[in-house]
Amino acid sequence: MQAIGVFDSGVGGLTVLRALKARWPAENFIYLADTARLPYGNKSLSTVHNYVGQCLKFFKAYDLKAVVVACNTASAAIIEKPIASEVPVFNVIEPGARKAVEASGTGRVGILATRATVHAEAYPHAILRLKPDAEVFQQACPLWVPLVEEGWIDDPVTNIIVYRYVSAILKNNLDTLIMGCTHYPVLREAIAKAAGNSIALVDSSQGLVEDLKSRIEMNEEATTGTVKILATDFSPRLEETARLILRGTTFDSIEPVDL
Ligand code: DGL
Repeated sequence: MQAIGVFDSGVGGLTVLRALKARWPAENFIYLADTARLPYGNKSLSTVHNYVGQCLKFFKAYDLKAVVVACNTASAAIIEKPIASEVPVFNVIEPGARKAVEASGTGRVGILATRATVHAEAYPHAILRLKPDAEVFQQACPLWVPLVEEGWIDDPVTNIIVYRYVSAILKNNLDTLIMGCTHYPVLREAIAKAAGNSIALVDSSQGLVEDLKSRIEMNEEATTGTVKILATDFSPRLEETARLILRGTTFDSIEPVDL
């Protein structure tokens, strides 16, 4: 039984899994959350690169048709230094950059991301490759991941912290903002409220769906596949937060795993 491996440092990548499962319900998914080592976003790219290597190695035990690195920080690490793999590996930065270029009328694009992703400059590079006259601005939002992992999604404290980062980057007169961390689409309502109606909000999922469709033979049948969640650190709270983020997308099992 072939599956698609989806990998993130935590539960944020479930936003990507949700989008993939909505598009291809018949596919089987194995989601790996490296919760024991979360956050990746405050670590150096070479440390994150080692973690990604271990996670890709772990996936070798499964019969996979593709691996989706559903973590922007991990994606930045492997774009800089690709890791050889027998199955196609997809990142979330290139599809996100492409969707932002499509969405932006002025070419002034803002990136909200972790410190490590900002530091790697993976988004500016990807955008400028597609549109050399674009102007790209970046804002690290290090407090957002803990809020999402804690499940504080609709909360006044979260709204204030979201506003603080969004208002800082909006000073650059942008028309498009990339939610450049897989945790951030969970805060979409708060981000949209802080950004206002005139700003296009982009996450990578839509572009990723296009990438998978163009490179992999996906199962388009009307059956229902399985979703298995594995986490390197497991707590009852994790299951609760996973359900909150998956918003109705069901999973068959959630289990601890040792890499
Ligand atoms: N989900 C990760 C990303 O997309 C960030 C979370 C973390 O810092 O581990 O960059």
